[in-house]
Amino acid sequence: MSTRIIVIGSGIAALSLAAHASDDCEIIILTKTTTDDSNSMLAQGGIATSYLPDDSIEQHLHDTLEAGAGHNDQVASEAIIREGKAIVLELLKRGCPFDKTPSMQPRLGKEGAHSQNRIFHAGGDQTGRILVQYLLKQLPKNVQLIQSAQVLELVKSADNKRCIGAIYKQSDGQLITLKADAVVLSTGGCGQLYPVTTNNKTLTGDGLMMAYRAGAALVDLEFTQFHPTLLINQQHVFGLVSEAVRGQGATLEDEHGRAVMAGIHPMADLAPRDVVARVLQREAQSGHQIYLNIRPVQHFRDHFPTISKLCDTAQIDLDTGKIPVSPGMHFLMGGIKVDENSQSSLPGLYAIGEVACTGLHGANRLASNSLLEGLVTGKRVAMALSHAQITQMPSVQSSPSLTIEVPTLSLPTLQNWLNEALAIERSSEGLTALRDKLAHVDCQITHYRNACSKQIEIANAWALAKLITQSALLRDESRGSHYRKDSPKRCDSKWQGKQIVHQLGRVSIIENPRIINSCTTSNFAHC
Ligand code: SIN
Repeated sequence: MSTRIIVIGSGIAALSLAAHASDDCEIIILTKTTTDDSNSMLAQGGIATSYLPDDSIEQHLHDTLEAGAGHNDQVASEAIIREGKAIVLELLKRGCPFDKTPSMQPRLGKEGAHSQNRIFHAGGDQTGRILVQYLLKQLPKNVQLIQSAQVLELVKSADNKRCIGAIYKQSDGQLITLKADAVVLSTGGCGQLYPVTTNNKTLTGDGLMMAYRAGAALVDLEFTQFHPTLLINQQHVFGLVSEAVRGQGATLEDEHGRAVMAGIHPMADLAPRDVVARVLQREAQSGHQIYLNIRPVQHFRDHFPTISKLCDTAQIDLDTGKIPVSPGMHFLMGGIKVDENSQSSLPGLYAIGEVACTGLHGANRLASNSLLEGLVTGKRVAMALSHAQITQMPSVQSSPSLTIEVPTLSLPTLQNWLNEALAIERSSEGLTALRDKLAHVDCQITHYRNACSKQIEIANAWALAKLITQSALLRDESRGSHYRKDSPKRCDSKWQGKQIVHQLGRVSIIENPRIINSCTTSNFAHC
C-alpha cells in the first residue's frame, strides 16, 4: 500500500515536496483558492546561496546569524544553508530559468545584510512566480492537486496522539474528510493580519491555528518582519519594491533628497531589514515622505518588470527617478515548531516553508533565505516520508469539533488594531490595551457548514492575533524585528536562547540550547 501524504498549500515548499517525493507515495495538494494565490508567487527577491569564488556557506551562515540578532538555531541554519545550495545547483543544472550574465553565468544580486552578491533571480523580479510555474509544469503523476479546498481542521487518531488527516470545504460547501499517513502544512504566514502587507490576500494564519487547535506547539510568534519598501501612493498599497533595487544602487531619501540611512548602520541602505524599517517608520512619524532614488539603477525596466508595472498602475512616473515607499508586514519568523525533518510536536503533522519555525531566521530573516528554506524543508519531508516505515495508520479517528468561534469583528478593524500596537514599534501599554480589546470581542460558535470562507479566515486571524500579542507582551526586550519602545535594549541576561511557546492553551518560556549568540553586531544596545 502506498504512503498517502496530504499537503495543505501550494507554494514553493509544497511543490518542492511534490518534486522530491518517491513515486510510490500518493500526494494530495489542497489549496484554498488556486495555485496563483501564494506568497511564493509574489516573491520578487530570489534565492540566496553562495556561488562566487569569494563566497562560502560559512559566509552565508555568518550573514544569516548577524541578521537574526542572536536568536537563530545555529545547527539548523547551517544545515539548511548547506542543503539549499545543493538544491539550487541541481535546479541550475536542470535548466531552471535563472537570470544569466552575457557569459552565461548566474547573474547574482545583492540584498539587505548580505556581504556578497548571492541572490539568484529569475525574470528579474519574478523569481517566485517563475519557480512556481517551473515546478508546477513538472508535477509528477502521483500528485493530485485540488484547488478551492479550504482546509478547516486536522483529524486526529482516537487517542489524540497522531494527526491522521484533514477536513476541508469544497467550493459547493460540502465538508470532506481525507485520511492520510502524514499531513504537511505549507500554508505560509499571516500578513493579512495587517492593513499594509506584501502578502497574498489568502494569508490569514489558517495553518498556524489549525496546528495549534490540534495540539502542535507554536513558537517565536512575536518576530514579525516588516519590509521597508512597499509601493504606496495616496494611501493605496500597490505591492513590494524589492530590496534588490537597493542592491543595485538605489538609496532611500526624504522629500528634500536627504539620505535617511547615512550614518545609521555600516551597511547604510542595505542594513538588516528591521533596522531600515524602524528608520523609515520614524521618518514617517516626523512627517517625511520617503522615496527610493532609483537614478543609480541601470536599465530599471528590464531588471524590474514587476515593479515597473506596479509603478505604472500606481501612476508613478519612473522617469522622475523616485518611487514613494513605506514599510509593511512581510514575513513571520516564528511558526509551528519543527525538528530537522520538519516534523511538528504532533506526530503525523509536518510543517514546511513560512508556516514552520526551523530556527533559520532567528529574530529577523535574512533576505531571500525563505525560498531557500521552502525548497529545503519540502525536500526533507519528501525524503523522510519516502524512506520511513509508516506505521499502520490508526483507522479510528477522534471527532474534531466542527464548530469555530467567529468574532463579531471585521478584518480591517483587526488589522488597524494590530497596526496601532503590534507593528514595528510596540510597548507594554499598547500591547496590554490590544490584549484586552481582543479578549472582549464577542463571538459566535458557528458550525463550519454555516460559516463562509471570510468568517473562517477572521476567526483564525483573531485567534492568532491573541497569541502574537501575548508573546510580544511577554518578551520585554528588543531583539531583531521585535522592538519594544519601553525596553529598547536587547536583554541577553534574561532572554538569550529563550523561546515563547504556545501549546494546548498554555504559554511557556523554554530555553533552547541550540540558539547560540555569535552575533558580532547588535541592532540594539544591550541592557
Ligand atoms: C525582496 O525582494 O526585497 C524580498 C525578498 C525577501 O523577502 O526575501
